[in-house]
Amino acid sequence: MKPAIAVVGNVWPEAFLDALSAEFDCHFPGRMLDAERAAFFAGTAARVRGFLTTGTVGIDAATADRFPSLEIVAVHGVGVDPVDLPAMAARGIAVTNTPDVLTEDVADLAVALLLTAARRLPFLDRYVRAGHWLEKRPLLPTRSLRGKVAGIYGYGRIGQAVAGRLRAFGMEIRYYQRSSGQAPELRSASLLELARESDYLVACAPGGLETRHAIDAAVLDALGPEGTLVNIARGSVVDEAALVAALTGGRLGAAALDVFEDEPQVPPALLRLDNVVLSPHVGSLTVEARQAMRELCLANLRAHFAGQPVLTPVGA
Ligand code: 8YV
Repeated sequence: MKPAIAVVGNVWPEAFLDALSAEFDCHFPGRMLDAERAAFFAGTAARVRGFLTTGTVGIDAATADRFPSLEIVAVHGVGVDPVDLPAMAARGIAVTNTPDVLTEDVADLAVALLLTAARRLPFLDRYVRAGHWLEKRPLLPTRSLRGKVAGIYGYGRIGQAVAGRLRAFGMEIRYYQRSSGQAPELRSASLLELARESDYLVACAPGGLETRHAIDAAVLDALGPEGTLVNIARGSVVDEAALVAALTGGRLGAAALDVFEDEPQVPPALLRLDNVVLSPHVGSLTVEARQAMRELCLANLRAHFAGQPVLTPVGA
């Protein structure tokens, strides 16, 4: 008998779900109407052994409790902040994620956002489309990247991949994270110090309680009116209200943001600012990364149900 799994999130192409259904008895609680869902949780849910979710949906303890036979949570994403890891550990439920396969594409987006903010591309695009070029409206020059300091907050796989790219633009790299394992000579004494030293602060740190609102009003003030914040990590890493205040008050130069505190909600004040670049949480949204992420989810589920070690366990 195929193992029963629950699948949530809206990132799954039909062809992948077909392939998944060939090996697993798949259930989609999010797609069920109320009566069907109630029947599912009263019956079938008891034999669901796997849970396939995303890095933004995750699974909380209450949801996991509705699946008494749950053995594995496979996360499509590297971030596991919306997974209640202590609750899973307490029940002996394995958790897997999809590191490495998305690193390069997420790092590319960080650099794209940084360049876009530095050269004010969205503003210039609007300028051309609105006919301001024809009107010969004056334009101010932007600043060169060469010789500027990029401060990377969170120097894991993605942070290091971002650093490698920015070095090619002649930028100087510094970073901050709690542990000093990597390149200790580049590590700033604190996040506040990093912001003080940086022209660009690139948030690459994992989400979760430890980093919640780490980039607060003081850090943004330290980055200053000539500084730019880039966030491709998690919205929770930045105090969004403080960010809005710093930008509208002219105390921060610019921001380029792929993630937000309450996605898909974006603070309306940000929508009105010319010095803000916005994208809808698309760091890993390339054909190649997403295919590799799906394959890794499948490989983890397969390995688990074949009684083999999973490929990419979280926190092992
Ligand atoms: C995705 C992500 O948006 O990897 C992560 O942590 O945030 C992204 O890759 C999401 O997990 C898609 O399922």
